[in-house]
Amino acid sequence: MSKFARGPYPATRMRRVRNHAWSRRLVRENQLSTADLIWPLFVFDGPGRQGVASLPGVDRLGTDQIVGEVVRACELGIPAIAIFPATNPELKTEDAAEAINPDNLVCRTVRAVKQEVGDQIGIICDVALDPYSSHGQDGLVRNGRVLNDETIEVLCQQALVQSEAGCDIIAPSDMMDGRIGAIRKALDESGKQDVQIMSYAAKYASAFYGPFRDAVGSATNLGGAGKTTYQQDPAQSDEALHEVELDLAEGADSVMIKPGMPYLDIVQRVKETFRVPTFVYQVSGEYAMLCAADQAGMLDRRSTVLESLISMKRAGADGILTYFAAEAAGWLSEQ
Ligand code: PBG
Repeated sequence: MSKFARGPYPATRMRRVRNHAWSRRLVRENQLSTADLIWPLFVFDGPGRQGVASLPGVDRLGTDQIVGEVVRACELGIPAIAIFPATNPELKTEDAAEAINPDNLVCRTVRAVKQEVGDQIGIICDVALDPYSSHGQDGLVRNGRVLNDETIEVLCQQALVQSEAGCDIIAPSDMMDGRIGAIRKALDESGKQDVQIMSYAAKYASAFYGPFRDAVGSATNLGGAGKTTYQQDPAQSDEALHEVELDLAEGADSVMIKPGMPYLDIVQRVKETFRVPTFVYQVSGEYAMLCAADQAGMLDRRSTVLESLISMKRAGADGILTYFAAEAAGWLSEQ
């Protein structure tokens, strides 16, 4: 028991401070604000919007739609967005060459967004080959193996074309060993020393990424293959700390844990151990589960979503990537 307690009931009545809304507000330890939210957006090369069956309410945005959505994010006060491409299937190749094309969909999108909104919002781009590869893996593949060092060379070039287009934060999501150090060096050597790196440091081989893979079209490319030789085993905990430690030593400015709700223990350990900017990704499958329960009339959407987000803050996250970002920002502005 806390040494400050006056002894057990009836001297101590825990319910006293819970009795009034003002009192609960007054003692509240954690707050969720719009400034904590990062909004992931999907783009495709074409006009209009495309629905994604497994991600209800999240559309792939056409090149004529994306800038408008980012303007909306700015108006809502969301500090950063993450852009993911649904690459045209004809452009997907074994060597994922489209990833390093300075005029690829992501680079064109970043330029268009920057031109409209400038520095009002941060732009995050994933570094990984899965949206561009015909096999759907995050790295180059030879004889059925995902190659580490050869992949890193491509990832460095990908980071360079993205930063050249105006990306503010490079977010390597590939889980190759040594990529943070290599990308930091490549950026620095090209005069991009102010471009940040947000490392997907503790990224688990999770089944909760399913709807995302539908959105970028990599599920079909993967064809049932997994990512267990580079993403972490869900049974691991210490290994996540080791990954974070290495990425920080290699120059990451911030780290990310992914998925979110099933991995809050990892968020807490990482934040307590390293005390660095720590992000968590409420991934597509978590979004889909909450939406499905809402649509089935099983759970209340607003309160479950806000509870899931505050739980991530309580665990120690400084920010949250979530497909609910715009909707949550709307709710928070009403409170
Ligand atoms: C790409 C990437 C993935 C996610 C973010 N970047 C999928 C994967 O690794 O297979 C998942 C995000 C989500 O599920 O919302 N490497």
